[in-house]
Amino acid sequence: MRPRFSLDDPAAIAVTPLDPDTLDAHLEGLPDAARTWISGSGYSGDVGEICPYPDAAGQIAGVLAGRGDAAARARKRFAMGAAIAGLPEGLYRLAGDLPDDELHEAALGFLLGLYRFDRYKSRPAAQAALVGPEGVDTTLLEHIAAGEFLTRDLINTPASDMGPDALEAAMRDLAATFGGRIEVTRGDDLIAGNLPMIHAVGRAAASAPRLIDMRWGEAGPELVLVGKGVCFDTGGLNLKPGASMGLMKKDMGGAATVLGLARMIMGAGLDLRLRVLVPAVENAVSGDAMRPGDILTARNGLTVEINNTDAEGRLVLADALALASEEPSDLLICMATLTGAARVALGPDLAPFYTDDDALAGALADAGGAVADPLWRMPLHAPYEAEIEPGIADLDNAPSGGFAGSITAALFLRRFVGETRFAHFDIYGWQPKDAPGRPKGGAGQGARAIFAALQEGILA
Ligand code: BES
Ligand code: MN
Ligand code: ZN
Repeated sequence: MRPRFSLDDPAAIAVTPLDPDTLDAHLEGLPDAARTWISGSGYSGDVGEICPYPDAAGQIAGVLAGRGDAAARARKRFAMGAAIAGLPEGLYRLAGDLPDDELHEAALGFLLGLYRFDRYKSRPAAQAALVGPEGVDTTLLEHIAAGEFLTRDLINTPASDMGPDALEAAMRDLAATFGGRIEVTRGDDLIAGNLPMIHAVGRAAASAPRLIDMRWGEAGPELVLVGKGVCFDTGGLNLKPGASMGLMKKDMGGAATVLGLARMIMGAGLDLRLRVLVPAVENAVSGDAMRPGDILTARNGLTVEINNTDAEGRLVLADALALASEEPSDLLICMATLTGAARVALGPDLAPFYTDDDALAGALADAGGAVADPLWRMPLHAPYEAEIEPGIADLDNAPSGGFAGSITAALFLRRFVGETRFAHFDIYGWQPKDAPGRPKGGAGQGARAIFAALQEGILA
């Protein structure tokens, strides 16, 4: 399924956006039967409300789409566009004027609202189509939505079909489509290649651990993306209880999100060089699983005491970040479903991110607000550095007590990054219940904001 707009056609049914204040005036211009239908339906013009009404023959004559007021729109982003995507099969077009930002949100909301995870459905459902609205860059929106769809598909696919092998295959597909180059270091080669923590986390699984390295673009500033690709997180020997393990197919959400962002960047042809690093592993249980108390030596030489095998994400990311930091680049971004603490602090809708660079933080937060991809900056609080270094090694992967768990994880990652400008996103990667444009299931967070910030020139 691809998020697409349709070509204009005189037969397209008009969808008129209305708010509670402009509803009455519009109704006066409609035939009596339509007015009676609409008032009988209880339609009020609130955001996300949608009202198809019939002509004399019983066909859909037109559709009213609720804009609501600014406060209502802020509570329910993408509500209008997603409601249009939910209309009965048919061809629609937007009528009337919307302010630019609302038009953009409605158009993107429509595309995002088309998403269905139908890989395991025997019969895909028919859907509404919308004529590409004038005044928005429809091709660009299609690339953005295609990136988000890729993220969702990768997360929603269960670990039985999205292990390290399948994640590598998905990344190879993406590279082949856009002319990217892929190198993979797999299995015991991780030891020879000095990626020891990726090996230690993934060696107990049936599908070999690996580092997937994709490069794209010939010229321009360099952006490096690192995504946590834990295809399933059992917790390892510190086994998660059942209730906590249930959703852990989504623990490759960081990888899925950086790949969705890469899809946006490559599709839109941004003027930059891109490198995407995905440590792809399964945190499994077997005789050669890493143990609590083990001490690992990371790629950059730091030693790490494993106080909890369930704090595996920071281990695989550390080696990837150290590798990324060996070459100069203009911006290094890490995305990971790294801690339960992040979700406790900000919930599933607001993505926490960390950076030392104030200008970058401002640009990211502003872009997130502008494109309805909400982000919140968190502190790399220096006094908590002591929390990650109490034991017999340089670093502790799981500080006891768990205070500020998302912050200490971010501080841990920063130990593996050199001078490069760096931001880390501790995302949730999952929509717990249906919302406009975001059905329950895998969800990208931060990618559209980063993409918008790149278009605003954060790399320049
Ligand atoms: N993948 C989990 C984090 C997670 C859990 C993200 C639930 C989203 C929802 C990660 O590998 C993990 O288990 N982290 C531990 C770290 C702890 C042992 C220091 C956590 O957050 O509990
Ligand atoms: Mn874990
Ligand atoms: Zn994990």
